[in-house]
Amino acid sequence: MLKQLSLFNSRTSKVPSLVKWTGSKRKSAKQILKYFPEDINRYFEPFLGSGSILYAVRELYPDCKVYGSDIYKPLIDIFKNVSKNPLKLKNKYRHDWTKLQKDFPNFFYKKRELFNKKKNFQDLIFLSRTCVNGIIRFNKNNEFNNSLHLSRRGMKPDLFDNIVDNWFLRIKNKSYFKCCDYTSILNHLKKGDFIYLDPPYFHSKNRYIENLNKDKFFGFIDELNKKNILFALSFDGSRDNIKLNEEFPKKLFKRKISINQTISTLNNVLNKKKNKFSDSLYLNY
Ligand SMILES: C[S@@+](CC[C@H](N)C(=O)[O-])C[C@H]1O[C@@H](n2cnc3c(N)ncnc32)[C@H](O)[C@@H]1O
Repeated sequence: MLKQLSLFNSRTSKVPSLVKWTGSKRKSAKQILKYFPEDINRYFEPFLGSGSILYAVRELYPDCKVYGSDIYKPLIDIFKNVSKNPLKLKNKYRHDWTKLQKDFPNFFYKKRELFNKKKNFQDLIFLSRTCVNGIIRFNKNNEFNNSLHLSRRGMKPDLFDNIVDNWFLRIKNKSYFKCCDYTSILNHLKKGDFIYLDPPYFHSKNRYIENLNKDKFFGFIDELNKKNILFALSFDGSRDNIKLNEEFPKKLFKRKISINQTISTLNNVLNKKKNKFSDSLYLNY
């Protein structure tokens, strides 16, 4: 663990934010990575979100293969395209951003409508880089509903290029992305693999996905244990004094670690209040 920490401090910069995603572990990546094993050959992250932990893994374990997956297709398309065709993606953002400056603010709302019809990853990038505080938010009809950040006029293309370039360096090799349910990775896992899990809270209000089923999820963890797959799981948390998840069954893990408090950006913005979050990390090793 100490080796990990010193490597991280000396070699790891901040994880650049490709998309701001609810529940991102970007701010606690360093604390979480401290508890990962010394060596990892194959790394799986089946609730990838914005991929902040995968990015850090790529940096700390340059030789390992990483497999990121998520149920939300536009997100996975972003990672696939950053790793295979970053220039096209950057050019498209520059093109859209330039159009926005000329047709302000209408272009944003046209794009939002288009995204809600077609769910194209490139439109999601545009929206996330131009909406209020970059927050990706959906209403009960699964529609992206955040508004344009009027005063910022969108992230400048040069800055966005920089973020994509950093990501490209990390994920151009030995990185694989797939849109699928978390359970479908079970067949690919073998002894010696390492998996980091960051599922949504059971009572998550994110409408674009079904709520996580408790029995199915605990059954999946049970299978990991039977297969001798090492895992780290971010499971429960608290916001101020409110607990955000169910109990995680004791028989399924060996250690529980408390991850220091972070501030939730989403709540800062929505409630203009600084809520303190804490998270627990469960390990089966
Ligand atoms: C808490 S977020 C992960 C955040 C991520 N660790 C980060 O740093 O951005 C949970 C993710 O799980 C995904 N998800 C929800 N249900 C899923 C399922 N059944 N299978 C795979 N992914 C799922 C969501 O789309 C979401 O991106």
